[in-house]
Amino acid sequence: MYQVLKAEKLAQNIYLMDVKAPRIAKNCQPGQFIIAKMDEIGERIPLTICDYDREQGTITIVFQIVGASTERMAGLKEGDSFRDFTGPLGEASEFVSEDLEVLKKKKMLFVAGGVGTAPVYPQVKWLHEHGIAADVIVGAKNKELLILEEEMKAVAGNLYIATDDGSYGTKGLVTDVIKDLVQSQGKKYDVCVAIGPMIMMKFACLLTKELNIPTIVSLNPIMVDGTGMCGACRVSVGGEVKFACVDGPEFDGHLVNFDEAMKRQQMYKTQEGRAMLKLKEGDTHHGGCGQCGGDE
Ligand code: NAD
Ligand code: FES
Repeated sequence: MYQVLKAEKLAQNIYLMDVKAPRIAKNCQPGQFIIAKMDEIGERIPLTICDYDREQGTITIVFQIVGASTERMAGLKEGDSFRDFTGPLGEASEFVSEDLEVLKKKKMLFVAGGVGTAPVYPQVKWLHEHGIAADVIVGAKNKELLILEEEMKAVAGNLYIATDDGSYGTKGLVTDVIKDLVQSQGKKYDVCVAIGPMIMMKFACLLTKELNIPTIVSLNPIMVDGTGMCGACRVSVGGEVKFACVDGPEFDGHLVNFDEAMKRQQMYKTQEGRAMLKLKEGDTHHGGCGQCGGDE
């Protein structure tokens, strides 16, 4: 059992929890995810790690209520426990294994959209701890839905906030801020990391391609079971079949076929759609577990 040491509501439908999981906290790196399961019958929920404390042995997760399982999860209080809490899973962010001196010379831009701010945080924090100040753009629908502002301010080089309705920070989308920084202010970036809703990552990538800024995205939103068995997170990257939970979650955003991934995401929601995907994709429908039936 994995005890919840802190449970906090960050904004409407968005919750933060610190969970005691010493083995994961000892080994995890930014970019990786865990799978949480509340009880025997509960759904597996893959969530990118938001923070970790190796000394306290805790993992911080942030999640949004999107269905019955996350609704139940939001009801967990301090002292309650998860039955399973598995990780760290997936590949760590690429920069973690880069030569630090080379990395220090790079100008990095992070683009966080809504709940996607949570997985951006450990990356920016890791860089800060290694003496690298990255620029960070955080976008939210409105001031009430903005999360982790103080935490991000403490680790970012420059923090730019945008809200869709202009209730806080600049009025506009994260892509408007990218344009302003690069085209109006003349800032130069060697790499961009964009994490948020699929539609945001798609448009951020279209823009950074035009601006010639290599861009990494995290495809956690298309995962369902996170174990390579359900086939939900199948995605074309540079024409090759990949699975976000097994091969990612981070990919070269300029090579990701977002339209196909978003269409699959919609189809995956119905049994009819899943059956169609299985029929069309045959043996490549699943993510490498070697056995069919993840759907059933
Ligand atoms: P949201 O819809 O409020 O969008 C957040 C910001 O993204 C907006 O404020 C805007 O600046 C930007 N954005 C949205 N649409 C855009 C567009 N068409 N062009 C340019 N920018 C755009 O976000 P939310 O409701 O907090 O998002 C929830 C989504 O985030 C879920 O789909 C969830 O799966 C996803 N998410 C992704 C990750 C990840 O690892 N990629 C992690 C957690 C959550
Ligand atoms: Fe099910 Fe990746 S999330 S195969």
